[in-house]
Amino acid sequence: MDFILTEEHLAVREAAREFAQKELLPGVIERDRNMAYPKEQVKMMGELGFLGMMVSPQYGGGGMDTISYVLAMEEISKVDSSCSVIMSVNNSLVCWGIETYGSEEQKSKYLPKLATGEWIGAFCLSEPEAGSDATSQRTTAVDMGDHYLLNGTKNWITNGGTSNLHIVMAQTNPEAGHRGINAFLVETSWDGVAIGAKEDKLGIRGSDTHTIMYTDVKVPKENRIGADGFGFKFAMKTLAGGRIGIASQALGIAAGAYELAVAYSKEREAFGKPISKHQAIAFKLATMATEIEAARLLVYRSAWMKDEHMDYDTASSMAKLYASEVAMRTTTEAVQVHGGYGFVKEYHVERLMRDAKITQIYEGTSEIQRIVISRDVLSGNVQVPLSKEAMNV
Ligand code: CAA
Repeated sequence: MDFILTEEHLAVREAAREFAQKELLPGVIERDRNMAYPKEQVKMMGELGFLGMMVSPQYGGGGMDTISYVLAMEEISKVDSSCSVIMSVNNSLVCWGIETYGSEEQKSKYLPKLATGEWIGAFCLSEPEAGSDATSQRTTAVDMGDHYLLNGTKNWITNGGTSNLHIVMAQTNPEAGHRGINAFLVETSWDGVAIGAKEDKLGIRGSDTHTIMYTDVKVPKENRIGADGFGFKFAMKTLAGGRIGIASQALGIAAGAYELAVAYSKEREAFGKPISKHQAIAFKLATMATEIEAARLLVYRSAWMKDEHMDYDTASSMAKLYASEVAMRTTTEAVQVHGGYGFVKEYHVERLMRDAKITQIYEGTSEIQRIVISRDVLSGNVQVPLSKEAMNV
């Protein structure tokens, strides 16, 4: 067993940390307050390669492994989760989905733009009446011979107002249930794509979340991903990887709040000594550190399993479930350590606490993760990767 990161991993983590501290930290409070999309910062993320980290160099990406990606996600999420969710959706859901399941034509056409940040992608599965119950898609795509006609509404779409390409899940054959769902690549410049108002959210306020309406959008046949009826499995497979990204976001939020709490507790004095010297605070820090480390192991393990081509679906749900709960607990405790200062906007911990909440909701709520995990538990297949053989490698 080897818990040591390689030199390359350390270099990626350092580059992400430097970028986050230098380019994201200044202005993060104002962007949150004003719900301002981090346009300049996203442009820089594209130039630095953070938007297509795992895409093969052949398509303009960094060709890195999932461990590198979660290390970068963690550092960026310590500072600005609005930026890290943009990064996560573009990398894990859009680029990975296209590279893994797309045709050669789709990959060559779209990946070079997405991997460099020239284009931003969005993943459009959720609907007003199909959130957790993702098989109940009401958006339809009717086969018209040489194209599909797409109609419907999607909501809670990250990158909704700023993306150039959507992956849209739609029902093409209602009688077939989830086996009638397909995934389509839809360019937002096409006629019939309309963007609703930006959501005014509790957290990740800089990220751009919208409802999208599709009215008689003509989608060329060649823009369907995979074989007819593959769309639901495509969405589930892609989300399993996406959950590693959100787990690393939750880990970063927790670690960011913890680092601030440690620093503050060493500076702030009460009853004649730094508050870190009081057990009431020191014990909180010890619990935070332990839980963060446990979350980190689950996150890295799920990333490693993905890199090793193991079945990582349950591992990624476990990582997301636990890391998001640790993010909520740690940020709440970090506010407590800061006392009144933790409750005001000049200190970053209140924002981290608000940002943490979404990690228990998007890309499958904690309840959805428990469904995925419990099915595996009950089938006697819960994942303890003791050997590659046991993990079906
Ligand atoms: N891989 C491959 N296939 C899978 C799969 C997986 N991980 N999970 C399910 N499937 C297949 C099943 O095998 C089944 O296929 P067959 O009938 O052919 O065997 C089919 O999909 C249906 O599966 P289920 O019967 O398990 O479906 P279900 O309705 O009981 O539940 C669920 C599935 C896990 C609850 C699923 O609906 C789910 O994950 N829901 C949450 C959706 C979600 O995460 N939404 C987030 C939106 S995206 C987002 O947030 C992005 C953003 O902008 C940040």
